[in-house]
Amino acid sequence: MKKIVVAIDGPAGAGKSTIAKLVGEKLGYAYIDTGAMYRSVTWKFLGTGEAFDEAFIGALSNKMIIEFKPEAKVNRVFVDGTEVTDAIRTPEVTANVSRVAAIGAVREAMVDQQRRMGEIGGIIMDGRDIGTVVFPNAELKIFLTASVEERASRRFKEIIAKGQECDLEQLKQEIAARDKADSEREISPLKQAEDAILLDSSDMTIDEVVQTILKMVEERL
Ligand code: CDP
Repeated sequence: MKKIVVAIDGPAGAGKSTIAKLVGEKLGYAYIDTGAMYRSVTWKFLGTGEAFDEAFIGALSNKMIIEFKPEAKVNRVFVDGTEVTDAIRTPEVTANVSRVAAIGAVREAMVDQQRRMGEIGGIIMDGRDIGTVVFPNAELKIFLTASVEERASRRFKEIIAKGQECDLEQLKQEIAARDKADSEREISPLKQAEDAILLDSSDMTIDEVVQTILKMVEERL
């Protein structure tokens, strides 16, 4: 059967990873979380203790090996053989990732790897620039969004469920600030591709979003 490339872009906390993982499983497609790749570079850089320097971080990102090992509940992530699945989700990494992701050399290194992963087709990839830059010819492009209140509230519940502390208002501000930084950066900003379908999930369940996307995939096969 024909295998297509599905690109899912959208702002922070819109549920892209959850949805893309489920759709990927249903279709038997590989799922790539590109946000985890930018988070991995950020984690690696913070671990060096060096001051922020674009050339230094760009060189680091070129030397790293990022791997995904999909499991039932999570997509495990490894950097140079070390598991970073949880380490890349800390508030410190989240607070620094947009700055790292705005570096041209970092984006070149990541996009290169992403395109290689997608060469064979049968892939679902989520991020900010998948439909606009990484796979401009993807057969299906979705721009998944939700109100900032809804996105903050979902993230809040996730954090509380992990037994961690969290302030909803602060989370909302952090999400809005990251969206602003990602949308206003010069290289590959967060933007809906002209031929992407806008899907607002504010009033939809996870299953409804998954079913909607599966139907769109079917139409393209
Ligand atoms: O899961 P969450 O919505 O918090 O974000 P993420 O998908 O893990 O992405 C983290 C950050 O990586 C974003 O805020 C962007 O700065 C950056 N990113 C990017 O620049 N391009 C992508 N294709 C994916 C993520």
